[in-house]
Amino acid sequence: MNIQQENIKKLVERRASARLGGGEKRIEAQHAKGKKTARERLAMLLDEGSFEEFDMFVQHRCTNFGMEKQHIDGDGVVTGCGTIDGRLVYVFAQDFTVSGGSLSKTMSEKICKVMDMAMRNGAPCIGLNDSGGARIQEGIDALAGYAEIFERNILASGVIPQISGIFGPCAGGAVYSPALTDFTLMVKNTSYMFLTGPAVVKSVTGEDVSQEELGGAGVHASKSGVAHFAAESEEDGIAKIKELLSFLPQNNREEAPLKPTSDPYNRVDAALNEIIPDNPNKPYDMYAVVRSIVDDGHFFEVHKEYAKNIIVGFARMNGRSVGVVANQPAMLAGVLDINASRKASRFVRFCDAFNIPLVTLVDVPGFLPGTHQEYGAIITNGAKLLYAYGEATVPKVTVTLRKSYGGAHIVMSCKQLRGDINYAWPSANIAVMGADGAVNVLYAKDMKAAATPDEAKAIFEDKKKEYDDLFSNPYQAAQKGYIDDVIEPANTRFRVIRALEQLSAKRQDLPAKKHDNLPL
Ligand code: HXC
Repeated sequence: MNIQQENIKKLVERRASARLGGGEKRIEAQHAKGKKTARERLAMLLDEGSFEEFDMFVQHRCTNFGMEKQHIDGDGVVTGCGTIDGRLVYVFAQDFTVSGGSLSKTMSEKICKVMDMAMRNGAPCIGLNDSGGARIQEGIDALAGYAEIFERNILASGVIPQISGIFGPCAGGAVYSPALTDFTLMVKNTSYMFLTGPAVVKSVTGEDVSQEELGGAGVHASKSGVAHFAAESEEDGIAKIKELLSFLPQNNREEAPLKPTSDPYNRVDAALNEIIPDNPNKPYDMYAVVRSIVDDGHFFEVHKEYAKNIIVGFARMNGRSVGVVANQPAMLAGVLDINASRKASRFVRFCDAFNIPLVTLVDVPGFLPGTHQEYGAIITNGAKLLYAYGEATVPKVTVTLRKSYGGAHIVMSCKQLRGDINYAWPSANIAVMGADGAVNVLYAKDMKAAATPDEAKAIFEDKKKEYDDLFSNPYQAAQKGYIDDVIEPANTRFRVIRALEQLSAKRQDLPAKKHDNLPL
């Protein structure tokens, strides 16, 4: 063997050793926990043969606690770029087999390098987290590393899509990187996120709580809203990340890719003409409307288990990505509350940042009343959604199906919040409030002064009819141009697609400013 052959042999051996991370035993331990390794995850995520790895030979520089004797090429994170469905992405996957995937300064430098490249080259950045947090032996160096990642998360926000997959522990301050990204996905049963673990919780508050109850995928997908998606398995998680990306552009200067469909753009669905019940207090399922109007009935939902009174997610209309926001009358009558407002406002802002048009389906009886909501700042939280719609410059098409009352009417992408095209079904009621509430406010004194209960009832019925005739239909709003047209429900898909086509070259600017001061 000549020197060059020796050199190449060494390279091949060193690569093979780096690929083993913490070694066979730790890989077995990882598998025994029902988890895959960082490399196995990337192999599932990226198109076959597309992975270009960086910094495979990077090692930590720590000399505390005997660390100078423990060097593993790559140091606990696998980084690089590759393609998903042929589109460039930058990736990092923490390797739990090396010091529990804990973050060293060099590891943060590897992560920052791919984040910088993603920004420069205008491609999404996907992080797969599986880490014991800051590398304890490194002290402040590890904390500095986190801060450098966070800074990049912030600068990249609204420029490139950032997606976090949580595939194992993600604890302490480490949770803030996923929280700064656009979407967080957790894998059920094997991942958890919390600022302080069960032992610290017990010592500070006395509360007995398991890891799963404190910060498992179920909790964050349904209670806190920290996770946008809860995956059944790692495979499911990777599939969801890939599908999510298919709806997104590469960066804020591009449009999402078109996906041609054989679903006719002018498909009529007669079932929609029958979907609104005669009784205004009876619910119906908004999912049926969403699926009816989007391409192939396919809806990729975000935050499915959280604040179910509002539905948000991605779909395509005539091949074009859209963000759908819809009140859900089948859950709490579709009322807007704190969680629904937070959920929808974040989604609206994401779509606006990444040039994804918004289709809003309205059936909202108002904001949820009560001390719980007021003490929790429904005023500020509701204002977030109002703000998000009001500042959004992407095409906005709104369809009012039934109720659209009061402040909630304004919030849900009304014309004066620069809704571009606002349609209403003939069943729409656009008013300050519902008829019963209105009559009770306006005629309380008259009803109280009535000689008999029957007389009071007659006053109520009479005024209710007057109110219904005036407001319980879309025509007062249509007469004043507050909506652009009253449409037959069956034609909704066609009308929304035609409106989106019309708006496809829309350009609208915001006044120059350093940044906004949205009500946080
Ligand atoms: C160094 C760590 C480590 C860490 C784990 N390891 N976490 N090494 N720094 N933070 C090492 C372990 O020593 C062990 O090494 C290997 O990784 C695997 O860990 P195990 O404990 O054997 O695994 P498991 O039983 O699955 O438990 C995983 C774990 C536990 C729950 C994550 O390791 C743990 O509690 N780690 C500490 C978590 C923590 O408190 N981190 C700091 C959070 S504060 P060997 O060699 O034995 O295999 C923080 C601040 C960030 O992160 C601030 C940002 C602003």
